[in-house]
Amino acid sequence: MSSAIETLVRQHRDCDQALEALEACLRSQDWDAAAGAFARLEAVLQGNFWSEEERLFPAFERAAGSASGPTAMMRHEHGEVRALLGNAREWLELRDANALAAELDTLVVLLQQHNIKEENVLFPMCRAHVPDLDALLANAG
Ligand SMILES: [Fe+2]
Repeated sequence: MSSAIETLVRQHRDCDQALEALEACLRSQDWDAAAGAFARLEAVLQGNFWSEEERLFPAFERAAGSASGPTAMMRHEHGEVRALLGNAREWLELRDANALAAELDTLVVLLQQHNIKEENVLFPMCRAHVPDLDALLANAG
């Protein structure tokens, strides 16, 4: 596997773990820990979205000669994730455990489906068509 794709897949797993950690804080009603876990989730998600939106997707769009293919759908889904995250932040600030849990349930499902599409469809397409794939994410951690 290319190291760039490995990095992105690792970022996806980091997001999963951050979400699980936040849900665990919520179950134990530890609001201070939940605030820290939320900040971690936000950071890993933003890092992953940045790598994809600013590096991978533009490179794929140049190689494909179009920005209206799968990357358009992935950008749209990132927007949906950001909206859910914004809602979750509000429930966290209000300390509404039930509303936050419901928001996170939706976020988990959306993010799982989104990441599966990237890993099973978009990333293989990028491996096949994007030249110098590894150089794209050389500094993306
Ligand atoms: Fe993504």
